[in-house]
Amino acid sequence: MKNYEMICDNLQVTKDGILCFAGQRTDILAKQYGTPLYLMDEDRIRRCCRIYSTAMKQTFGDKGRTLYASKAACFKRMYSIMQEEDIFIDVVSCGEIHTAVRAGYKMQNAYFHSNNKTDDDIRFALQNKVGHFVVDNEEELTAIDRIAKEVSAKPKILLRITPGIDTHTYEAIATGQVDSKFGSALETGQAEHITALALSLSHISLCGFHCHIGSQLFDSNVFFRAADCMLRFIADIRDRYGYVAEQLDLGGGYGVRYTNEDPAIDLADNIRQVGQVIHRLTKELSLPMPMILLEPGRSLVADAGLTLYTVGTVKRIPGYKNYVSVDGGMTDNPRFALYRAVHTFVAANRMNEECNMTADVVGRCCESGDILGQKVSLPETVCRGDLIAGLTTGAYTYSMASNYNRIPRPAVVMLSGGQTYVAVRRESLDDLIRLDE
Ligand code: LLP
Repeated sequence: MKNYEMICDNLQVTKDGILCFAGQRTDILAKQYGTPLYLMDEDRIRRCCRIYSTAMKQTFGDKGRTLYASKAACFKRMYSIMQEEDIFIDVVSCGEIHTAVRAGYKMQNAYFHSNNKTDDDIRFALQNKVGHFVVDNEEELTAIDRIAKEVSAKPKILLRITPGIDTHTYEAIATGQVDSKFGSALETGQAEHITALALSLSHISLCGFHCHIGSQLFDSNVFFRAADCMLRFIADIRDRYGYVAEQLDLGGGYGVRYTNEDPAIDLADNIRQVGQVIHRLTKELSLPMPMILLEPGRSLVADAGLTLYTVGTVKRIPGYKNYVSVDGGMTDNPRFALYRAVHTFVAANRMNEECNMTADVVGRCCESGDILGQKVSLPETVCRGDLIAGLTTGAYTYSMASNYNRIPRPAVVMLSGGQTYVAVRRESLDDLIRLDE
């Protein structure tokens, strides 16, 4: 079996060696829409949403809810898909709030995160009737209370707690450990302190607690430990303050397959197992079952994405290495540059040829760090005009894209039921100067 077949079942190859994504030929899509190009398999996104919502319902009945962490891929169409699938959303900035509002998303189903909400952010979220604030720290809490008083509102809030769990993921995306920039730590007593403060304020309504321990996680034990810590904390707060949390949000974090070395996670089974831990503990601690929320980003959209590039220069440095330069790069996918994160790259129009060359697939920025993948296996016939596909690129690529070197961002094209449509149009050169005075 080949790499690409194992990563996701929405990839196929035609007899003449062309990679198909969601049943559509990538060579035709490249011709029709140009490259670089983000493709998103809408049917796959919907399938992932349903895996989560079905498992949450089966495990927690009406007390289970899925939120989409929209930082993973944020544009209007994504919010309408989430609304149609009855998935709640996590937003982290006025930009994400504005996008969701403009998409017609019901904002009472939105949870506003971030570790540093400015007064303007708080006002904006209140004006736009965001359903819940997830509060990171005491300063933010008192600011929300003060502003809510000014505008005669009483927002619902969750408190973000740092449970002190080290998850062994990339350092830059670990968030559960005590010294994280996010949340109020259990170990230092700050979690209890912020809870007592929240209970004393009259312009907010405390609904429960949140934690998010990290991202691209494969070890289900860390989720069990997070649930355990949080429920014991909830019981502790009940015993000391008589306050019983109605909601427990356990964050996102399930990993996806970027290469065939990454394990495949059975999401439904994992959710059931976390559910067993939660059911057992709530009994043991005599707690009523809170509403349980999970807020995946990556595992809802990553393998629904593929990025198509056209090869430009192929440079061979005898005795050293080979470079295959493509028409995109760190501007459309900065994940290797930022985290050394590995994606699978394939020659989309030479899928039946032997991969007998290794090369670094690099972009066209004036920067040596502009690397998409190192030591990628490709056919040595790869040449100018060929197509390279980056797989599993649906999460944290478009949303982290930049205009470095004034390179326009690619279009996002959605594929659904054999049809295609543009969800985000390609940036033009004029788009790049539209803010310049
Ligand atoms: N909830 C909170 C509070 C988060 O901070 C995140 C991700 C999620 C949920 C969703 O986590 P997921 O299910 O996607 O793992 N740019 C990095 C990932 C940063 C994750 C930030 N927070 C990357 O490209 O890997």
